[in-house]
Amino acid sequence: MARAACYLLGLCLMGCSNDYTPSPDAEAAHIFDSACLKCHKPANNTSLFQLKPENASLSYISAKIRQGSFLMPAFPNFSEQDLAKLSQYVLEQSETLE
Ligand code: HEC
Repeated sequence: MARAACYLLGLCLMGCSNDYTPSPDAEAAHIFDSACLKCHKPANNTSLFQLKPENASLSYISAKIRQGSFLMPAFPNFSEQDLAKLSQYVLEQSETLE
């Protein structure tokens, strides 16, 4: 059981992580354009994401970026500052669904 979990984790670390590393003084918008825009083209000009109310939080967004998901790569090389400013930017540029 533990070995199966390691194996799956190993696959995911190879397959679902992105080694993009922002330069230390990069603006959040620049990081988004470089690392996220290719998959996340905004559906309209006013908001990046339409978030469910329970997902409209810095902790949800930063966990998504850090850990990825089945379909989204994780970004392990972001510093804490990168993660904080990018999550803030994403939240500010998104709308919350009713
Ligand atoms: C290779 C494509 C890809 C890249 C690159 C990518 N994402 Fe994603 N992302 C996805 C997919 C697919 C989903 C939807 C599945 C899910 O929620 O896990 C998603 C979901 C999300 C969500 C959740 C949206 C919601 O409605 O709950 C956020 C927030 C997010 N991504 C932010 C980012 C940020 C910020 C970056 C750049 C650091 C990024 N993504 C890079 C593919 C990508």
